[in-house]
Amino acid sequence: MLVSAKIVEAFNAQIGHELGASHQYLAIASYFDNEDLSELAAFFFRQADEERDHAMKFVRFLLEADGQVRIPEIAAPKNEFGTAVEAVQASLDWEKEVTQQIYDLVALSQAENNYIAQRFLDWFVTEQLEEVSTMSTLLGIVKRAGEGNLLYVEDYLSRHGIAADGE
Ligand SMILES: [Fe+2]
Ligand SMILES: [Fe+2]
Repeated sequence: MLVSAKIVEAFNAQIGHELGASHQYLAIASYFDNEDLSELAAFFFRQADEERDHAMKFVRFLLEADGQVRIPEIAAPKNEFGTAVEAVQASLDWEKEVTQQIYDLVALSQAENNYIAQRFLDWFVTEQLEEVSTMSTLLGIVKRAGEGNLLYVEDYLSRHGIAADGE
């Protein structure tokens, strides 16, 4: 096995965090879809897919490293949102939290001199820069438009888009 029991445990927990994020973004996408804000809905549906991909990267890594995959229990996401700002702010807060989770995994793999795990996690460090930056930009746009003018946000997203795929 190329990873310690501690890393296996921490990576399995992260699979739960990534799947939890995917569920949270599905809930937010659905909120926007119900509000007939289809661009915002599409943005968050894409984010939900990405978070599932992140979980899958951890699953595949553990399997390749001969670690046991144990999918943890995942709490229900927040399903009620009062405003668009509230939903996007929650997403930004979440991404900052995930960034700290990734840092903790890096610190653990450094403490164990596990270079394979460190190399694997490098991708996530870069990805979090992109995720936090994207969410922060979206929050700025939504705040600037204001709740009464979310169609401007829709227009902006359809014209410019926001790089949500790390590209
Ligand atoms: Fe993620
Ligand atoms: Fe994310």
